[in-house]
Parts: sequence; C-alpha cells; structure tokens
Amino acid sequence: MSVDQRPEIENLLAEGRTFPPDPAFSAQANAQASIYDEAAGDPEGFWARIARETVIWREPFTTTLEWDLPFAKWFVGGKLNISENCVDRHVANGLGEKVAYHWIGEPGDKRTITYADLLREVSKAANALRELGINTGDRVAIYMPMIPELPIAMLACARIGAPHTVVFGGFSAEALSGRINDAEAKLVITADGGWRRGKAAALKPAVDEAVQSTPTIEHVLVVRRLGDAVESGTAMEDGRDVWWHDVVDRQSETCEPVALDSEHMLYLLYTSGTTAKPKGIMHTTAGYLVGTSYSHMQIFDVKPDDVYWCAADVGWVTGHSYIVYGPLANATTGVMYEGTPDTPAWDRWWQIIEDYKVNILYCAPTAIRAFMKQGDALPARHDLSSLRVLGSVGEPINPEAWLWYHEHIGGGKTPIVDTWWQTETGQILITPLPGVTTTKPGSATFPFPGIEADIVDGAGNSVPLGGGGYLVLKRPWPAMLRGIYGDPERYKETYWNRFPGMYFAGDGAKRDEDGYFWLLGRVDDVMNVAGHRLSTTEIESALVSHPVVAEAAVVGGPDPVTGEAINAFVILRLGNEPTKELGQALRDHVATKISPIAKPKSLMFVPDLPKTRSGKIMRRLLRDIAQGRSLGDTTTLADATVVETIRANTGAAEE
Ligand code: PRX
Repeated sequence: MSVDQRPEIENLLAEGRTFPPDPAFSAQANAQASIYDEAAGDPEGFWARIARETVIWREPFTTTLEWDLPFAKWFVGGKLNISENCVDRHVANGLGEKVAYHWIGEPGDKRTITYADLLREVSKAANALRELGINTGDRVAIYMPMIPELPIAMLACARIGAPHTVVFGGFSAEALSGRINDAEAKLVITADGGWRRGKAAALKPAVDEAVQSTPTIEHVLVVRRLGDAVESGTAMEDGRDVWWHDVVDRQSETCEPVALDSEHMLYLLYTSGTTAKPKGIMHTTAGYLVGTSYSHMQIFDVKPDDVYWCAADVGWVTGHSYIVYGPLANATTGVMYEGTPDTPAWDRWWQIIEDYKVNILYCAPTAIRAFMKQGDALPARHDLSSLRVLGSVGEPINPEAWLWYHEHIGGGKTPIVDTWWQTETGQILITPLPGVTTTKPGSATFPFPGIEADIVDGAGNSVPLGGGGYLVLKRPWPAMLRGIYGDPERYKETYWNRFPGMYFAGDGAKRDEDGYFWLLGRVDDVMNVAGHRLSTTEIESALVSHPVVAEAAVVGGPDPVTGEAINAFVILRLGNEPTKELGQALRDHVATKISPIAKPKSLMFVPDLPKTRSGKIMRRLLRDIAQGRSLGDTTTLADATVVETIRANTGAAEE
C-alpha cells in the first residue's frame, strides 16, 4: 500500500521577524502568562472562575459544562440578564456619567451616550417592544445603519429575552426577507436611512419590499436618522409602521431586566455557507457574555480610562461581540462611526483617533490595505500617539500590511493583536496577548487560554510543527455557537462530521517550528499545482511584500500540464504604473520570495477586487473570471461593478 506523504497544505513562506513585548507594556498589562497554565490545567475550572468573578448572576450556575457532542451547554442552572450586565450594574457602581459611546455621524454630527443614558434608552426601548407585542422568546429583526439606536435596540431585545437577528444594513431586501422568514421574526427595527459616502442612503424602502413576503412581521419600528434628507419622504404604512420617537420616547424610563436561563437564545446571526441558504448561527446568553467580555479585557488590554474603537459594523459578529456585548460588559468607552473611511477624505479615521484620543483600534486587513494603497502621508498628518494597542480581524493579515500598520499607525511601538475567530466561535480564539506574546507579522500566534486548537491532516491526525493542514478545535468554549437555527443536521454536517469529535473551522493553517499558528485561508480556495497544495495567503503575502503592491488575490485555473495554474490579481499602491515588465517582475518576485512552484502563471493589474460586504476577497468570482465562466451569484458583493471592470481589463493579463 502506498502512503501519500504529501502535506495537506504546503508551508512556503517563512517570516523571521519577531516583536517581543515592551517590558513597560508588560508591567501594566491585564493579561498575565500564568492564565495559560491555569487554563491548561483545568479549562472548565478556569472558565467557571471567570464566570463567577465577572458576571452578575440572578441565580448561580450549578454545572459549568454539559457536553453532549456536538451540543454544548455552559453554566447550566444559572440565571442572568445580559443587558443588566452591560448597563445597569455600571450605573449602580457609580459609572452612570461614564461615556459608553462617542458616536460620530458621517456628516460630522456627534452624540455622547453615557451609561446612564444607555440605561434610560434601553429601558424605554424595551418597554416599547412590549407595547408592540414582543414577549420573551419572540424574534426581532434589526436592519439599521451605524447609529446609537442599533446597540440600544439589541440591548432592549436582550433585556426582555427576545432574540435579535441583526441584518447588515448594506444587504438587499431579499436577503432581509430570507432572514426574517427563517427566524420567523415578528418585528423589524430599522431607520429611514443613514449617511454613506456623503449621501443620504434610504433604508426603509428595502424593508417595505422585504416585508411584502414575510407573513410573521407585525410591525416596523423606524428611527428617524435622515428626516428631510430622504428625497421622496419616508412612507409609513398605517397600523404596521411606527416611528421610534413616537413610541419609544413616551415610555417609562424603567424596565426590570428579565432573569433568563444561561442557555436562553441571545441572538441569531446569519452567515452565508456554500449553499445559497444562509445559516442562522445561534448564540446564547451566559457563555457568550463570559467569552466575549473576558477575551475583550485580556486581548485589548482595556483600562478604565481608555477610548476603544472597533471599526467594524455592528451587523457583523465582530460588532456584536466587540462593539456591543464584550466592551459594554467591561464598562468600556467606545467610539462608533457611521460612515466610510474615505469620507470626506481618506484620513477620516486618523482624524477621529486624534479628536477622541483613541487608545485601542480594532479593524480588518481590508481596511489596512486600503489605507496602505493611499500612501503614508495621510496618517503622518495626524497625532496618533494615543494609540496603545492595534487589532486585526477577518482575514489573514499579510506580513507587509502588519508592518505598515505597526509603523505608520502604531508609531512602531504598539502591540498588534491578529485575532482569529468566526461568527460561529462568538469570541476570539487564536490571538496574541499584548504584553505577553512575542508576535510575528502575519501570525495569529497561539490559542487563547482555555482553547484547544490543532492542525490536522486529512485523516484527522495532528500535523507536526512546520506542517500545514486543517484548523480544528478540540474542546468546547463558552461563546461557541449552539447550532444552526432549525437545522441540527446541517450543524453536525458542516462543523463536526469532517473530523469526528473535532470542530472543523473550514480554514487551512500551519504551525511553524516555534508552534505559532499561521492562517492560510479557506480550504475551499487551496490550489493544487503539480501535486503541491498551495494556500492563497502565502502567495498573496509574497506579492504584497513587494513595495509597489497594496493588495493581491490569487486563484487556481485549469492547466493541462500542472493540473491547476495560479492566476494573480494585483492592486498597485498609488503612484505606480501597471506595465508588462512590472507584471513579470512581480511574478519573479513570488518565485524568489517563496518558490518557483508558486510563481503565478498570469498576473492582472486591477483597480479593485470583488469583496463581500464585510471586506473579504471573493476568490470564487475571480476563479470564474480567470476561467472565462459565467459569473455565479454576485448579490453578496460590496460593489458588483468591480467584476465587470476586471473582465473588461482581461486583455492586460500577463502570460
Ligand atoms: O477564514 C477565517 C477568516 O474569517 C473567517 C470567519 O469569518 P466571519 O464568520 O465573517 O467572522 C469574521 C470576524 C470574526 C474565518 O474562518 N478570519 C477571521 N479572522 C482571521 C481570519 N483569517 C485569518 N486571520 C484572522 N485573524
């Protein structure tokens, strides 16, 4: 019997640079190296201690974990309310005047929401939900721009135990109605619209269209954000639609938080899978609160006076866990910005950091690469010296983008936490701890304390250090998904059947000789070139390591000789001209930087790349373009015109 010795995924790119923690930072850090040992010795005991120390319980839990693979229950027997934990307790502790959110509208309007304001507004909104017929257990859809009423609406739902399902405000009416129907939501909370790229973008018409096909919806609650800026006015249907200011403003300012079971469903968040039907990822109350708040405190080193800015949209899990629940549970002062980073100019974020003396910034590699493309001068014009910690999430961060972030945003001194996790995991699972971990640009480093991650081959065997394979998680963690709403079979099939007893994340990864984890992209994107299984990430990072490149994507296409050949798409940094010679030089650069087997067969310069609305590169569409196929579904694209532009340019491809 011949044994196939080829690795599951090749390990090509070696990154030697290391950044040990600054001793001065370590001396004041929240995170201590000892928590790794504590958690490794007794993971359940570790989480139980944190749950007892950090949560206000109405009734204490009796069992830390009930694990009926693959169904977990954490902190069983406990009762609590997450809005009480995020709001009431801080006011009771004398923090009523502390700012919960500094909110900045895109046109420049501002609001300051203290914890006392939040308590009042959440209570009124919760009373309004009840008046609109929402009871504990009823689902509520939320479809809003980035305005303070968005977290207020989520916390109001949580206060009465009505699970929310937030649908990102950039999604279509069809996406909204599909999610409403799957969740059988009774109410939609929305706004007349929001400001984006200097324009008033109406939202209510999409809701009107969506609710034509959602029989369970009884009411639509509408925040007035744009007012007269909506050109045609906002149509309100009698009996169904109500204005937030008409219903919420007149409510009582007190609303007793409902004591809920630890495993009461807090929310559903839909994430697209390989099939067209999105999966309703279920998160529950106590484990989610413990996982998000503790990880937030340790990983971002949040101090009582810090100003923290997670620049994601609340519509993604990053916003749920690290704009709303985690930070508020820790009484954090956050920044919330409504608009896009390029409005009115590409230094809007740097201006906000300067104005609010932001200490912690958490954003996505797609944003960092977009800033990198604009050049170094814009951040240099602003005082960013308040920054103490930088974070990255959503995609692998290329070492070069990491270094740019470190140098030009972090002033060469701030630790960077590259945090790996998913909608399904609820909380960050692989990450450095600032002040503890020596980082390497591009590596998410090590599993968080209490998390057991591994890299396995196709047969589920652990891959030795230096090798690549599939990322798996080997024990349950508090904020993990509890299933796919209404579809336990799909839950088992998607996450647990590939490797029995292990959670399969769908990501490729490798571990270097020092045990550092390096994420290599989705396994669906792995290319097979002449028998070598190559990850997208390493080749893209090799391209981005060239000083003219801001961003790159690679995909496989059929090749008669090698099986698959690599096609590269490259965005240049501003000020560089796309030429045939440069294309050749970049292809050679990959060959010398990592290996001749990874040299792209073709390279195309593009002005932009197709991305999901949360900023991830959509390689599936690039594959269609590279292979001359008709394009599949493009509705989840952030900008559908991008693929046409790339197609129109195909003549520029280097061969
Ligand atoms: O492929 C991984 C990538 O994003 C996926 C999860 O996406 P989503 O559910 O939208 O959640 C994004 C925000 C948590 C993962 O399976 N991903 C996320 N963070 C990283 C990452 N890939 C590499 N490095 C990361 N830090």
